[in-house]
Amino acid sequence: MEIRLHPSILSADFVNMQSELARIASADAVHVDVMDNHFVAALTFGPQMVKRIGEVSPIPLDVHLMIDRADENAAIYAEVGAQSVTFHVEAARNVSSVVSAIHEHGAQAGIALKPGTPLEPYLENLHEVDMVLIMTVEPGAGGQPFMPEVMPKLEMLSSYLAQHGLSPLVEVDGGITTETLPIALARGANTFVAGSSVFGHGIPAENIAALRASAHS
Ligand code: DX5
Ligand code: ZN
Repeated sequence: MEIRLHPSILSADFVNMQSELARIASADAVHVDVMDNHFVAALTFGPQMVKRIGEVSPIPLDVHLMIDRADENAAIYAEVGAQSVTFHVEAARNVSSVVSAIHEHGAQAGIALKPGTPLEPYLENLHEVDMVLIMTVEPGAGGQPFMPEVMPKLEMLSSYLAQHGLSPLVEVDGGITTETLPIALARGANTFVAGSSVFGHGIPAENIAALRASAHS
C-alpha cells in the first residue's frame, strides 16, 4: 500500500525554516498549518510566509487553512504557489465556490472536517475536491493524542468514495504515529500528516522512514 507522508512544519523550528524543510525532503509534501487566532486560538503566519516556504521547499506544499472566512481568504494561498489548499468546511459559507476559487488560482482543493463535524452535509462536495482531510484531533495545536472516535467517519468516507468511484486523497491529521497510522490506513486514509512524530525526537528522515514502514506492519 503506497502512502503519502506530509510532515507538519508546525512542530519545526520556525526560525530555521529552510534547513527544517531540507530535513524532510524524503516526504511527499510539507503540511503547512495556517492559523489565524480566530478559527483556532493559535496564530502562525499568512500568505507571505507561505510563498517563501514554497520558494525554498524541496517538496510541494499542502496548505491546511485553520482560518475564518474561507470564502474571502482561501484563494490567495493558491495564488502564492501552494500545490494544494485545504480549508475547513466550518469556516466556509459556500464550500463549492471556495473549491472553485482555489482551482481557478491553480491549486488542488481540499476540505477539512473537525472531529465533531459530520460528513453527510458534504457528501455532494466529494466529487469536486482533490483531498478530504479528516481531523483526528481538534485543530489548533500539535502534540495531541489521536482520537479513535473519528474512525467511523473515516470508514463512511472511504466506502462512499469507493461506491461512487471517487478518488480524492484521504488525509488524516493529528496524533499520527507508527501506532496510529495503521489504524487510519485500515479505514481508508492514504495521506498522513505528522508533526511531533517527525520533528519531536531523533532525525526527521528516519522518523519519516519509520512511519512509512508502519504502513506495512
Ligand atoms: C493541528 C494541526 C496539525 C498538527 C499535527 O491543528 O493541523 O497539522 O501540526 O501535529 P501532531 O502530528 O503533533 O498531532
Ligand atoms: Zn494540519
